[in-house]
Amino acid sequence: MKTLMVRTKEREYPIHIGPGLLSSLPRFLEDIGWTVEKRLMLVTDDQVGPLYANRVRTTLASKGYRVHVATVEAGEGAKTLRRLEELTTVCLRAGLDRTGGILALGGGVVGDLAGFLAAAYMRGIPFVQLPTTLLAHDSSVGGKVGVNHPLGKNMIGAFHQPSLVVFDVDTLKTLPRREVSNGFAEVVKHALIRDPKFVRWLEENSGSLMELRPEPLTEAVLRGCSIKAEVVSKDEKEAGLRAVLNYGHTLGHALEAAAGYGTWSHGEAVAVGMVGAAMLGEELGLCPPLAERTRRILKAFGLPTRLDGDFDDDDLLERMRRDKKAERGSYTFILPRDLGRVEIVRGVEEEPVRRVLRRLRGGER
Ligand SMILES: NC(=O)c1ccc[n+]([C@@H]2O[C@H](COP(=O)([O-])OP(=O)(O)OC[C@H]3O[C@@H](n4cnc5c(N)ncnc54)[C@H](O)[C@@H]3O)[C@@H](O)[C@H]2O)c1
Ligand SMILES: [Zn+2]
Repeated sequence: MKTLMVRTKEREYPIHIGPGLLSSLPRFLEDIGWTVEKRLMLVTDDQVGPLYANRVRTTLASKGYRVHVATVEAGEGAKTLRRLEELTTVCLRAGLDRTGGILALGGGVVGDLAGFLAAAYMRGIPFVQLPTTLLAHDSSVGGKVGVNHPLGKNMIGAFHQPSLVVFDVDTLKTLPRREVSNGFAEVVKHALIRDPKFVRWLEENSGSLMELRPEPLTEAVLRGCSIKAEVVSKDEKEAGLRAVLNYGHTLGHALEAAAGYGTWSHGEAVAVGMVGAAMLGEELGLCPPLAERTRRILKAFGLPTRLDGDFDDDDLLERMRRDKKAERGSYTFILPRDLGRVEIVRGVEEEPVRRVLRRLRGGER
């Protein structure tokens, strides 16, 4: 097991990462002062719940904890105010008071929803993240919680730091393949923005990582979490540095939206976005050639690296401008300066961006 301590203004909390950790949950809770008197509400979804909720509840019950389980439907559709209200009802009926705690067992959707429940319930009670997707190495760090609004994703939310994160990498064995790749997109992103050594390590270990071998997996999640934690701790409320976490996301968001949400997974769109960012860096002479290398590493994790599909360049450009509220004909991107180093670049002109879109479709493989 590896442990990373995350320091935020609100609190300091541990992230435990390793195989089989869910069976040690009672001990981890005890360590943070959650005694058996604390009434617990475990929030999960209907895909993760049948796999792990019972085990978690029995483990906790065997040590004397009283745990209620609330289940929402799997998928992004559960991140709504309606579900938040329903979960609030469940908590109230279960007699959860200000001394209670929330456990979020699932991926980023459950983490965001249950985290926001914890932020809002009785003006805020503590919560613990039990991530079960690789992507959740990202979403469980940083304290952003919330739900979607019909007019936009994550439009209603709060900053609420967890008291503890327990990442049992064994749970990833049941994760659909596409979700594994989806999560690796953000792992690779964390490496590319901050840590050239980690990039090389990922290149060398992609095979055993895709086989979900617990040791390298623990290491990858640890490095990913610590990069995210480091960036976030230097910029908790998104004043500046945190923007580098959006590497690959300007084009990624545009692709996700243009294709229709759910067609491309977030990670797939960001993967193509990162190849695009590397190409743009090259076009603008900001960095040594990095696009091919970016492409290779993403492919090794089962991710797409080309702009396949019926996209209209003008539509994509318009979306990218809107994403960063940039002026007409001028774009803001996070671009690489070197392997493992990126920066915010404003005032990028349209022509090089158009060239990149062409290159992303073109013969380069
Ligand atoms: N708060 C943040 O900082 C932050 C950062 C990034 C993403 N997010 C949010 O995270 C969400 C995406 O998270 P996600 O990719 O984890 O999606 P998710 O929670 O929807 O999980 C993906 C799918 O995998 C299933 N699943 C989860 N764990 C499983 C397991 N171990 N075995 C089998 N199936 C499993 C889920 O039921 C779901 O169907 C988005 O809503 C996004 O906005 C938040
Ligand atoms: Zn992302």
